[in-house]
Amino acid sequence: MTSSTEPTRATRRGTANWPTAGLSFGGDYSPEQWPWETVLEDMVLMGEAGVNLVTLGVFSWVVHEPQDGRFDFTWLDRMLDLLHEHGISVDLATPTAAVPMWLHRLHPEILPQDEHGHPLAPGGRLGWCASSPVFRSYALRIVERLASHVAGHPAVRMWHISNELGGGNGRCHCPVSNARFRDWVEAKYATVDALNDAWGTAFWGNTYSSFAEVTTPSGVTAHNPGQLLDFERFSSDELLGHYRAERAVLQRWTPHVPITTNFMVGLGPDVVDYTRWADETDIVANDHYTYGPDPLRHQELAFSGDRMRAMSGGGPWMLMEHAAGAASWHPINQPKRPGELIRHALGHLARGSDSAMFFQWRASRLGTEQFHSAMLPHAGRDSRIFRDITTLGGHLRALREVQGSVVADVQVAILHDNEAGWAVKSGLKPINRPSYAESARAVHNALFERAVTADIVPPWAALADYRLVVVPGLFLVSDTNARAVRDYVEAGGTVLVTWFSGIVDEVNTVRTGGFPGAFRDLLGVSSEEFSPLTVEERVALDNGWTAKRWTEFMRAPEDGSGVEIVARYAGGTVSGAPAITRRTVGAGAAWYLSADLEAADLGALVDRLLSESGVEPAAAVPRGVEAVRRRSASESYLFLINHTAEPAWADASGTDLLTGTLHDGQVPLAAGAVAVLRESGAWSTGSQGPGRP
Ligand code: GAL
Repeated sequence: MTSSTEPTRATRRGTANWPTAGLSFGGDYSPEQWPWETVLEDMVLMGEAGVNLVTLGVFSWVVHEPQDGRFDFTWLDRMLDLLHEHGISVDLATPTAAVPMWLHRLHPEILPQDEHGHPLAPGGRLGWCASSPVFRSYALRIVERLASHVAGHPAVRMWHISNELGGGNGRCHCPVSNARFRDWVEAKYATVDALNDAWGTAFWGNTYSSFAEVTTPSGVTAHNPGQLLDFERFSSDELLGHYRAERAVLQRWTPHVPITTNFMVGLGPDVVDYTRWADETDIVANDHYTYGPDPLRHQELAFSGDRMRAMSGGGPWMLMEHAAGAASWHPINQPKRPGELIRHALGHLARGSDSAMFFQWRASRLGTEQFHSAMLPHAGRDSRIFRDITTLGGHLRALREVQGSVVADVQVAILHDNEAGWAVKSGLKPINRPSYAESARAVHNALFERAVTADIVPPWAALADYRLVVVPGLFLVSDTNARAVRDYVEAGGTVLVTWFSGIVDEVNTVRTGGFPGAFRDLLGVSSEEFSPLTVEERVALDNGWTAKRWTEFMRAPEDGSGVEIVARYAGGTVSGAPAITRRTVGAGAAWYLSADLEAADLGALVDRLLSESGVEPAAAVPRGVEAVRRRSASESYLFLINHTAEPAWADASGTDLLTGTLHDGQVPLAAGAVAVLRESGAWSTGSQGPGRP
C-alpha cells in the first residue's frame, strides 16, 4: 500500500538522463496510421519544425503482436531506424493502453466493470482492470518482448509506460477487484473491529462480521465516506502496481533508459494519486489541455505547472502532451487564439517544464480523435498552426541554455493533497459536488495576477523556507501535517487557512469540538455550524467585502487570547460573527478565512498577506502579464508572457533570448507577446530569495 505512507520529498531531478540534448520538442507520433510516403514527408516537416523527440507506439500493441503470441517488430525497427537517421529521439511507449481485439475475444473478463457490474465494451482504450492477473500476464509478455527487442537501439531515449493510466480504467468493480479490495482492506486494518471503527459502520448498521463481507462501493443508496476514500486509495494502488510491474521489466532490459508515464495533473482530485506516485518515475511527465472558453485557462495551466514542479522535487519536468489548437472532447472546441500556442508552451516552460510536447504530430483523418488538433493540421504545412509550431521550434532552440534551470525565488506554498480531494467527494457534504481545488485555484489566481509564483506542495513538504503558506480547503489532514503547519507559524511563518480545512482525519472521520478541527487551536477560533449559500446569495462583511457560497457560525474568544477580528459578517444567518481572523502565534501569524470571498476581495486579502509576510513578485508587471523566474548555477531567466490584448511593459533588464534585444529597465511587450530575459546580473540584488538555491 502506498497511499498510507508519505513519500519523502523527491530528490531534484536533473538533466543527466534527459532524452534530448536541448529542450524536448515534438509529440505523439502514429505513423502506423499512414502510408510510407506520408511518413517520409513527416521526416522533412519534423526537420523544418525542429522536432527532436516523438512518442512512438502508444497504441501499437496489435502492430507488434497481431495475433496471440505472434510477434512482429518489422514496422517498429523501420521506424526507429528512420527516426534515428533524422536525429529524432524516441520516447517509446509500452502499448498496454490499447488492448488488441484478439485479447478481448480470448479474455472478456479483463474488461473493467462499472459500479452496476456492467463491463465496458471492447475497443476504445484502457479496456482492462488493473487487478486482472490475466491482463497483467499478457501485458508483461508484450512489454518483455518489446524491451528485449529494442534494448540497445540508440533512438530509444525514454520509456513511456502505457498511457494516462486510470483514464478510463480508474475504478473497477469486477469480481477480481472486489477480492483484491477485500485483501487490501484486511492488510490495512488487520481486524474487523478496526475496520468497523475506521469506517464508522455502526451508522446505518453496516457493521461487518468478517472481511469476506466487504465489497467495493458499488451501486447502493449512499456510501460510507471511509469506504469510498479507501476505494480511491486502493484503485490508485492497483494502477501503481501495474505501472511497477511494467517498469520492472523495462529496468531489467534497459537499465539506463529513463522511465516515465504521462500524468493528467490538473486541478485534482486526480484519478490516481500522482503526488505519491511521482518518485516512481525517472522524469515526471504531464498531459495538459486547456478549455477554450475558459477566460482564465492560462492561469489553470499555471496551476497545473506549479503542481508538477512539486512532483519533480523542484527540478525540471516534462510537458508530455498539450494541444496545438482545439481539442475534440468538449461540447465546443475552440482553436487557440493568435499567439496562444506559443504563450501556452512558454507558460509551461516558465513553470519548470523542459519540454513542449503535443498530442499529436499529424492530425488523424480517421478514428475517434479525427478532429483533435495537431502540430501538422489537416490543412497541412501552409497553415497558421504549422507556422506557429515552426516559430516555437525556433524559440526552443534559442532557449536551449534554460534547460536544467529551476524555478527560483518561490516564497509562497499552497498545500494541496489529492487525498483531501478524494475525501471531499467521498460521502455527502454541506455543499455536494464541491470541487476540492476551487479554493486553491482562487488564491493561486490572485497570486498569478500579482506575478507571485507559488509552489503547490503536499502537506508533508518542508515549509520553513516559504514566507507565506496557504492552506486552502484542506479538508483532510493528519495530526502530523497539521502540527507541521503550527510549527511553521511558531517559527515565524505566516499562514492563511481557508474554509473547510482540517475537517476530517485520514479515515474521513469528522474532528469534533469545533471547525476547522485540526487547525482550531492554531487559529484560536471555533466554528459550530456551516452556513453555505445558494448560487445567487451574497453576504456582506463589515469591511465592505462580500462572501459567496460559504459562511460559518464562528466564535472567537473574548479573553484577548491574541485573536484579532479582521472582519465580521454584516448579514446573512451569521450576521455579527467573525468572518476573518488573525492570530499571532510564536513568531508568526495564523489567519483564518471562514468565507468564500469574491475574487477582488480575496485579492485584497492576498495583498495584505503578501505585504505582511514580505513576499515580492518576480517582476513589476501589470495585471495579466505572467512573470516567472528560472535560475541555473550561473544565470537567471525571467519569463514574461503578456496574456492581455493590450501592449504592456515589465520593469526588468537583460537580453531577450527570443530576439537578441537588450533591455535596460523596461521591457515592452506587445499584446500577446512573450520574452525570456537572460538577466545577466541584473537580478543579483544580494537576495537569492528563499525556497530554491
Ligand atoms: C490525451 C491522451 C492522448 C489523446 C489526447 C487528446 O489525454 O493521452 O492519447 O487522446 O488526450 O485527446
